[in-house]
Amino acid sequence: MYNKDIFNRIILLVGLVLLFSCSKKDLPAIIENEDIEAELTRVPEGFESILYPEDNPFTLSKWELGKKLFYDPVLSVDFSISCATCHKPELAFSDDQATTNGVENRPGTRNSPSLTNVAYHPYYTREGGVPTLEMQILIPIQEHNEFGFNIVEACERLKEITEYVEMTEDAFGTEMTPFALTRALATFERTLISGNSPYDLHNRGDASLSSSALKGMTLFNSSKTNCSSCHSGFNFTDYSFRNNGYDSGDIGRMRLTLDSADYAHFKVPSLRNIELTVPYMHDGSFSSLREVINHYNAGGSSDLKDPLLQPLGLSDSEIGDIINFLKSLTDQEFISNKNFQE
Ligand code: HEC
Ligand code: HEC
Repeated sequence: MYNKDIFNRIILLVGLVLLFSCSKKDLPAIIENEDIEAELTRVPEGFESILYPEDNPFTLSKWELGKKLFYDPVLSVDFSISCATCHKPELAFSDDQATTNGVENRPGTRNSPSLTNVAYHPYYTREGGVPTLEMQILIPIQEHNEFGFNIVEACERLKEITEYVEMTEDAFGTEMTPFALTRALATFERTLISGNSPYDLHNRGDASLSSSALKGMTLFNSSKTNCSSCHSGFNFTDYSFRNNGYDSGDIGRMRLTLDSADYAHFKVPSLRNIELTVPYMHDGSFSSLREVINHYNAGGSSDLKDPLLQPLGLSDSEIGDIINFLKSLTDQEFISNKNFQE
């Protein structure tokens, strides 16, 4: 077996030498890069394929540049915070604050969402006003209470840093531009795919869930709770905008449409890695999963709530079962994946 692997490896090497006639020294690097590319763009079983925009197909050099930018405070006006300040890999790219301050401790207004499987969202932010990941990047860079900077000046700054000059040239064949900056960061974000939780392993027949989690799954998918009417599909959201019975005074989607029928409507969030993304809701005011389920069990508290929300009459042990099911969506492999870490 071992010898056969080596033999195949040699055949592949010889083939590549003939094909590209580059020096032997470069070959292992090419093979290694192809492996990493395949790994980064692979989609778990049962997931839809990811649509890369026409003007931004995946390349490894773009992804490397995007990853470096994601962790670099260079994008904030005073070099104090990076994307990862609010989107931490160990917390499934969310953070543990209700709202997080931007530069100069300017208070944030909303809870930082997880970037788990963000490639699949048809629009971005909680009211859905931003059509692409590329465009979303302008928001944190320009927002007064996030990076408080400006994309043109950010590019000028990056043009002074040799490593960025080289990486940008490598990835785009140009100097740093707003186009390159947004394409690179979006390429990194599109690879943040989580699909190896105990729930996924259970679906593939590779592991089994506890009986409590299984009971919770049945309840979650039942007409008794209606959870899966909104949190549906492999990413546990239908991406619709709903009023889930919690009104903090934030007008939600109405901010965008100016239609009072959209008052306090928010994009249905994915529930993948939900255990790690506490606190919950658009303002982070729910501090545990139990608190969230208690809210639904009471039928929600806003007059303008979605008609799907009614008092559920769940027992304590049923609430525990739903929580155990939600915890089975925690993907340890995703949060410990070295590819995604600084
Ligand atoms: C100060 C904290 C903070 C920083 C820094 C920050 N974000 Fe965010 N991010 C948020 C918050 C809060 C939201 C939700 C905004 C809303 O819905 O109104 C958000 C939303 C997003 C979304 C949309 C997610 C969705 O479900 O629609 C993406 C993508 C994103 N951020 C990526 C980034 C990137 C890339 C950077 C760095 C360029 C960054 N963020 C920097 C706090 C932050
Ligand atoms: C009518 C649609 C709808 C139904 C039904 C529904 N949800 Fe939600 N859920 C939402 C919306 C919308 C939000 C986001 C609200 C916000 O951001 O303030 C949400 C938020 C959540 C959150 C917090 C997510 C986060 O990242 O902050 C959890 C957990 C959750 N729901 C679980 C459930 C469970 C469990 C059920 C069934 C008992 C359920 N939901 C039923 C629409 C729904």
